[in-house]
Amino acid sequence: MKVVHTIEELRDQLRGQLRASFVPTMGNLHEGHLSLMRLARQHGDPVVASIFVNPLQFGPNEDFDKYPRTLEADIAKLEERRDVYVLFAPSVKEMYPEPQSYRVQTPSDLGNVLEGEFRPGFFEGVTTVVLKLFSCVQPKVAVFGKKDYQQLMIVRNMCRQFQLPVTIYAHETVREPSGLALSSRNRYLSDAERAEAPVLYATLNQVKDRLLAGETEPAALDEFARNTLAQRGWEVDYVSVRKQLDLHVPTAGEIANKTPLVVLAAAKLGATRLIDNLEIEL
Ligand code: PAJ
Repeated sequence: MKVVHTIEELRDQLRGQLRASFVPTMGNLHEGHLSLMRLARQHGDPVVASIFVNPLQFGPNEDFDKYPRTLEADIAKLEERRDVYVLFAPSVKEMYPEPQSYRVQTPSDLGNVLEGEFRPGFFEGVTTVVLKLFSCVQPKVAVFGKKDYQQLMIVRNMCRQFQLPVTIYAHETVREPSGLALSSRNRYLSDAERAEAPVLYATLNQVKDRLLAGETEPAALDEFARNTLAQRGWEVDYVSVRKQLDLHVPTAGEIANKTPLVVLAAAKLGATRLIDNLEIEL
């Protein structure tokens, strides 16, 4: 695997190659990321991965400075798996040599709800860096995880609307046996919090059970899940049943008519904010 830090070196490595399968990440790689790279490889060689902690998508009170940066360990994991041909690990100066005054604006019904409501500017930061990374790598295919469901949908819609020649593939969320979704932020959890953390996914499954049992009132389902978590000491940002199609709130009638659903949640255990989601087909 070649490790490159500049766009020029990246272009040199990719010259004469087929257009790559690409997996963008912020590093601190775990089995979730590595599974994306395996899937990317199934969609064609060469595979390019990136590791870049993107300052544009962190709010002023978020964890940009303390986000785990573990490049050496990440490289070792990638070398072991042998799925990645080039790792692009640029500096902030390389990606943002001047202030990024041009940004990709996300539509407000998708970019300002759920994660976007609690992290203003987050999706604009994500789409802007993803567009820039796509323009560096010029991939044929890119793989994203369903763990970040709203991000996946926003990136897909951006590619469609800008007619970018990139096909987006989704990978299922990779979980611990307990159900806890793998995340770089899990390392912030204390032992007691780690024991509690699987309750987030368990609660999403309870919402699913209620839907399968015939409940159709989305607000009642959201409230049930919020209360379940709040009673156990979670600080809930949102738990919400949405339509897979556009992440809008379904009507009771749409639920009764079996529109495909997804329940999405973000909640804090102590200082650590976890997100998760579950697709539900009735
Ligand atoms: P990061 O959080 O590092 O995630 C990189 C990719 O891995 C994303 O597509 C994410 O959905 C996926 N991923 C993370 N945990 C996963 C899990 N448990 N199972 C399956 N996939 C998982 O998402 C970002 O970085 C950034 O926003 C980025 C797209 C790189 C732009 O900066």
